[in-house]
Amino acid sequence: MKGCVGIIGLGSMGASIALNLARNGYKVSVYNRTFQKAEDFVKENPDKGFMLCRTLEDLASSLPSPRVVMSVITAGAPTKAALSDLSSFLNPGDLVIDCANSFYKDSMQLGSEMAKKGILFADCGVSGGKMGALLGPSMMFGGSPEAWKLSEGIIKDICAKTPSGEACAERLGPVGSGHFVKMVHTGIEYALMGAIAEVYDIFRREGFSSDQCAQIFKRWDEGDLHGYLTEITSKVLEHKDKKTGKGFVEIVSDKAHMNGTGTWTVLSALELGCSVPSIGEAVFERIFSSESDLRSAFKHDSKGPGISIDSSEAMQALYLSFASIFSQGFDLLLSASKKYGWGLDPVKIAQIWEAGCIIRSSFLPKIRSAFKKNPDLPSLMADPEFKSMEEKNGQSMRRVVAKGVLGEIPLPVLDSSLSYLDDLSHPLPSNLIGAQRDYFGAHGYERTDEEGFFHTEWEEGGEEIKRQ
Ligand code: 6PG
Repeated sequence: MKGCVGIIGLGSMGASIALNLARNGYKVSVYNRTFQKAEDFVKENPDKGFMLCRTLEDLASSLPSPRVVMSVITAGAPTKAALSDLSSFLNPGDLVIDCANSFYKDSMQLGSEMAKKGILFADCGVSGGKMGALLGPSMMFGGSPEAWKLSEGIIKDICAKTPSGEACAERLGPVGSGHFVKMVHTGIEYALMGAIAEVYDIFRREGFSSDQCAQIFKRWDEGDLHGYLTEITSKVLEHKDKKTGKGFVEIVSDKAHMNGTGTWTVLSALELGCSVPSIGEAVFERIFSSESDLRSAFKHDSKGPGISIDSSEAMQALYLSFASIFSQGFDLLLSASKKYGWGLDPVKIAQIWEAGCIIRSSFLPKIRSAFKKNPDLPSLMADPEFKSMEEKNGQSMRRVVAKGVLGEIPLPVLDSSLSYLDDLSHPLPSNLIGAQRDYFGAHGYERTDEEGFFHTEWEEGGEEIKRQ
């Protein structure tokens, strides 16, 4: 046996992590707020050697010092309450790892409360859903080097591995950074899913059946667009509803729900002053999809004017939008790293995301090598390989987006992904906005030809004043 680990929370993720730990040779003590659930779990897995704990105190006393406890309960108030209860049974030097989808600022606060008691605290983003948690998730660890030393072996045993056998788990920075990186992962996930759905919409409006769409995504998954989300898109599209025999997606409501991580990503980007338009549009589209009262007031014409889009052009558009989305996501990670002094390493993050997680795809090795070659890359799109993606696919993407507009197919994620790339490489018209602001609000502006901050006396002869 390798060691002992405590698990709090036996929902689908917690139970899968507990089984993963047991499979990897750990003695696992399990606790769930509803004892019955823990009892059933242990009964269902009689050969795994689980230690059933009725209370948090039992859990703490079942573990040798320094204790390692992984918490996998609902983020927010439930996590906070359980961990503060647990802390009264722990000793200085014990480690609590929050593996829920907690908001990173909550983790920072919880970390400092634990630190006052001498308890080590880490926030670990876990991606890959239930199956990932069971077979090997991608794990984004934020915590002190001391906390990492206590848990690195455990985490690297249970995490996913890249095709060349590297662990998809690393310490990324101090407390807060693990959940921040996981949050951005999910923001990227929203945008990739949004872009895929838009391309599906194009095909659907062209009259393709779900089976035909499935075949297209399957082909793409075998090529440049290889990735978990492409793969499951094809699987979901070919699935038949058991009740009606219809294509499954045809019976699923267009109200896509969400748990809020995408919203946090956008709010955090706004707070950090970082532009992530495709993630923003994807979140707005999710919100819009659930605004049924608003949408039902309008007629829904599923046909619209006919358009014809070549499937290889649609593939190129999707491919380039993925590049743009990843670029925005990494920009957000690096902005946060700068603001908080986390020292996030994009090479490590790309490695962690290469396997196990939801956004794993052929892009991750490319991203990893781009930042490895140039750690000071100002944007992923500045890397020669990403630049050439733009050169090769840009024209097709423009045609797809333009035809979407003409065909009344909303493509907010694809469109904003393209505009983001154009924003990077063209002068912005915001010189006019700067001048307007100064006109009505005397807010001042910068000049292109001289250092300093200026204001023009618009109503009083147009004299310019240098403010600093
Ligand atoms: C993952 C996912 C997962 C996330 C859901 C949330 O990496 O395994 O990101 O952790 O909770 O996908 O998405 P919704 O907001 O759509 O529910």
